[in-house]
Amino acid sequence: MVSIAKTIGENGQVAGIDISEAMLGIARKKLFKHNNVILKKWDLENIPYSDNYFDAVVSVNVMHYFHNLMDVLKEFYRILKPGGRMVLLGFCTDFLFFQAMEKMWRILVPSHVRAYSLDELSQKLKEAGFKIVENKRFKASWFWGSMAVKVKKDSQQGYRNFQSIHKGGANV
Ligand SMILES: C[S@@+](CC[C@H](N)C(=O)[O-])C[C@H]1O[C@@H](n2cnc3c(N)ncnc32)[C@H](O)[C@@H]1O
Repeated sequence: MVSIAKTIGENGQVAGIDISEAMLGIARKKLFKHNNVILKKWDLENIPYSDNYFDAVVSVNVMHYFHNLMDVLKEFYRILKPGGRMVLLGFCTDFLFFQAMEKMWRILVPSHVRAYSLDELSQKLKEAGFKIVENKRFKASWFWGSMAVKVKKDSQQGYRNFQSIHKGGANV
């Protein structure tokens, strides 16, 4: 977030959202010099920002915590402006050793729900309405696999289609 705050500059605004007060405390310490950052203790499944608010969303290593990833992706889609960009980074199950480790985490680490393969995540992003701009997996170490997906919220039409689903089927 420090580099994002620097890139955005004084005239922009960066919002950092996390459900954990402890994590927000760490962020506050790292970001105290940056007046363009606000930090919020919110659940990403229900983000209290209005529709079409942000130019960009960045999410790093959070996906594996969600019981319902699709609800979060739909929230990201809703708060992004049409034409807005999003980058998601996270663990990737396309690497054999990591697959085995991840299965163990599911049993041993209560907060870990599940990680995804690049194809699974890309498919979910498409279902949430995003257009894939770029997606790639990379080996972070011999036992660790990650992926990065860059997407775009394409058009107003796509947004309206999603709204009608999100609001329980009402035609918009
Ligand atoms: C592995 S940490 C990554 C934190 C940060 N993105 C980074 O890269 O340093 C995952 C974070 O996701 C947060 N998290 C998990 N579920 C969440 C939710 N439903 N809403 C908001 N934050 C959540 C956790 O509190 C945790 O701080």
